[in-house]
Order: sequence, then C-alpha cells, then structure tokens
Amino acid sequence: MKVCIVGVSGKLGKYMVQHSLDRGYEVVGVCRDRSVGKLDAFKGRIAVIPGATNDREVIKNAISGCDGVLTVLVPWGAHHYSSGTAQAVLDYARPGARLVFSCGWHITRDGLDVYPSTFKRDETVARWLGRLTRLVDIDDQVEACRRVFASDTLWTVVRGSDLEEGESEGLPVWSRHVGDPILESNLTRRVDYALFMVEALKNDELIHEAPAIVGCRAPSALAHAAAAGAQADP
Ligand SMILES: NC(=O)c1ccc[n+]([C@@H]2O[C@H](COP(=O)([O-])OP(=O)(O)OC[C@H]3O[C@@H](n4cnc5c(N)ncnc54)[C@H](OP(=O)(O)O)[C@@H]3O)[C@@H](O)[C@H]2O)c1
Repeated sequence: MKVCIVGVSGKLGKYMVQHSLDRGYEVVGVCRDRSVGKLDAFKGRIAVIPGATNDREVIKNAISGCDGVLTVLVPWGAHHYSSGTAQAVLDYARPGARLVFSCGWHITRDGLDVYPSTFKRDETVARWLGRLTRLVDIDDQVEACRRVFASDTLWTVVRGSDLEEGESEGLPVWSRHVGDPILESNLTRRVDYALFMVEALKNDELIHEAPAIVGCRAPSALAHAAAAGAQADP
C-alpha cells in the first residue's frame, strides 16, 4: 500500500508515519519547506515533497498513485489553507483511494452533536481571536469538512477529542455524535489518534463516517465497555 501523509511534519503526521512504516506501507509526505528537517528521523525511509499543502500542483504530484491519503486539516492562516488542502486532495486522489482527514470535535456533520457549554465558549473565543489576529480560521476548517462531506470519494473524517502525549493505549473508540456518553472523558493519546487514522485506511465501515473518537482507556470508554459487558453477561 502506498500512502501520502499531507501535513506530515506535525506531531500527528509523524505518528502516522511510524504507524504506516510499521505496517510496511510506502510513505510519501508533504510539508512546508522549512519543516522538512523535522522528519530527519525518517530519512531514507520516506519520500518528502516540500511545499504548502494547499498548493494544488504539490498535492497532485504527491498523491499520484497513492492508495490512501491521510490529511491533517489545520485552521492556520487566513488564506483558505484548510479548504484549499482538502479540495486539492479531493480533486487529485485516484478514484477508489481511501481518504482520511483529521479535525476536531467542533466539526459537525449532521448538526446532531451536543457540546458541553465550555466547549462552545472556547470555540467562540478561538474564532474571535482567530479573526482578530488572522492567524487561525476555524470557519475555513469547517468549509474544508463541508466539501469532504459533499464529496463522493471514499472519505472518512476523524474528529479528535482533546489530545495528550504518552504511550499508546490502543485503538480509540468512537461514536457518531459528541454528547454520546462513551465520549464524555474527551481525551485521546495523540499516538492513538494517529493509529485510528491509519487503521481507517483499511476499515470500510468508516467510509462516509465522521467518527468522534476518545481513548479506549478513558474513563467514559471503560464505563461504556463495562456496561456493555454487564448487559451481555447478566
Ligand atoms: N491539538 C489538539 O488538542 C487537537 C484536538 C482535536 C483535534 N485536533 C486535530 O488534530 C490534528 C493535528 O493537530 P495538532 O494540534 O496535533 O497539530 P500537529 O499535529 O502538530 O500539526 C500541526 C500542523 O499544522 C502545520 N502548521 C503549523 N503552523 C502552520 C502555519 N502557520 N501554516 C500552515 N501550516 C501550519 C504544521 O506544519 P509544520 O510542521 O510545517 O509547522 C503541521 O502540519 C488537526 O487536524 C487538529 O484539528 C487537534
């Protein structure tokens, strides 16, 4: 399997490289020119194409012939970086390729997510600060996901909870809607977020889904598993 990781030099991207190499995949990565050095640990094991991830020619070249594309959608800048990145991937991926995108819980696919009030407050502040400083454009990440949801490609949008560093705990669990009790702990190890992204490439049940994930050892996930076990074995 040949995979392209778009936004490969970030924390999530590097974890995805390791998971992909562990599976014997051929890896091509795209990152900004100035960030290529962050990938020195993988020198000789992956191909790196330097460039902005919303540069359509860069993406066309990088994802040509790839069976899967893992895209880190980030709301940076005020120049449609996120939607430009998503659109280029949607336009140039080969038909039948699996496309997996990352974003946060704040993205909603069907409007049925129920958010804690603190979550909505923090999002409003981030939006407002982003507009003021022009450093962050959350609405553009929303637009990027809207375009993915409308696409007939084989997409999955993985919605991450709050993240923490640490050893892997295993594949995160997921639910369709924020507000579902299993997600209540709102915490996932970043290495496991990357694991979920890479595993999604081969999980057809996740095609056209926008799973909201949480760590499999998070208290809410464990409580859900215990309740399911008690029901199965009264
Ligand atoms: N952080 C969280 O708590 C959190 C929570 C839920 C979901 N997520 C999602 O997880 C994914 C990864 O997020 P992360 O926070 O863990 O970050 P990350 O993996 O470190 O990735 C950040 C990415 O943004 C790029 N970037 C940084 N500044 C940029 C700029 N000014 N212009 C263009 N690109 C820039 C980085 O590229 P360089 O290497 O070139 O700097 C890198 O590819 C995202 O999709 C995010 O929405 C994050």
